[in-house]
Amino acid sequence: MNFKTMSLIGAVALALPTLGMADPDDDTLVINGDIAITTKAPAPAHLSDSLDEVMSGWHFRSDETQAMEMDDFDNPGMIFVEQGVEIWNAVDGGEGKSCASCHGAPEEMAGVKAVYPKWNEAAGEVRTLQMQVNDCRETRMGAEPWKTDKGGSIPMEALLASVSRGMPVNVAIDGPAQATWEKGKEIYYTRYGQLELSCANCHEDNYGNMIRADHLSQGQINGFPTYRLKNAKLNGTHSRFKGCVRDTRAETFSPGGPEFVALELYVASRGNGLSVEGPSVRN
Ligand code: HEC
Ligand code: HEC
Repeated sequence: MNFKTMSLIGAVALALPTLGMADPDDDTLVINGDIAITTKAPAPAHLSDSLDEVMSGWHFRSDETQAMEMDDFDNPGMIFVEQGVEIWNAVDGGEGKSCASCHGAPEEMAGVKAVYPKWNEAAGEVRTLQMQVNDCRETRMGAEPWKTDKGGSIPMEALLASVSRGMPVNVAIDGPAQATWEKGKEIYYTRYGQLELSCANCHEDNYGNMIRADHLSQGQINGFPTYRLKNAKLNGTHSRFKGCVRDTRAETFSPGGPEFVALELYVASRGNGLSVEGPSVRN
């Protein structure tokens, strides 16, 4: 065994059968006894060579962690949704407008989160939801943009996710979005870092396995933003990507940068058919 294989197995312990499998469970998620969440769905057509079924990360968590998502009073992520509502209604920037001035109630945004990242024709780019919100802040409110996964970005994304809960993720991957999607796909399958691991090595080839003390999921993002018990805050998609890339001991891309935008589109498309679930609760 050469050093590389040793460090790979030593560090991530993926190949050790003694760590065993822990199958994702068959529990069902209904939020507030009202919003049914599709947490398992047939894999979208573009994944037919690699997966039969896609699953929310919710299935890979303990019963206690799962339960926190079943009632908004128990979901610590909902505090950020309330912050998002305050921001939604607050006037900001030189134009004297709030989000509500133009968009009415947050519920008017139901369904929007499900289709982002999305191609914007006028800008000629794929936009994440955070980018779109920032565009409204800059061009329509005369306000400063928020940094990716910082400031108002996360509470606002949590609010926009919450009003779409239960709706099927359905990002478009064809037409003008296709080139960005292809780029994201390439990143997903590229092995990075000293450990030479791709996203797929962990989240496609080894979901269900235990890694260190953690139960590997498919790395879906239908539940984002995600409240993590580990850091006791709501986490954005790009921050999560960054953490996972770092775990392979690689230089990571920048949150908000074109690589992670493309990766977000691609990873979102792997969850087409699952419900929007954010803000979710994870380890
Ligand atoms: C002055 C009016 C105005 C304000 C204020 C405004 N927006 Fe917008 N917003 C628009 C318009 C017009 C569009 C659609 C045009 C486009 O696609 O660029 C839009 C589009 C959006 C979309 C995309 C909807 C979709 O179906 O893809 C989101 C999300 C959004 N706004 C969120 C916000 C948030 C959050 C705020 C407050 C931080 C905000 N907007 C403030 C006018 C506004
Ligand atoms: C060394 C294995 C490994 C690699 C490589 C890896 N991850 Fe992860 N990832 C994890 C672990 C462990 C977790 C936490 C448990 C879980 O949800 O799978 C996680 C969690 C996630 C989550 C959160 C899922 C949820 O439901 O909250 C996402 C999203 C994710 N990873 C995406 C990625 C992407 C994209 C890449 C490639 C850039 C990647 N990961 C590479 C191990 C890895």
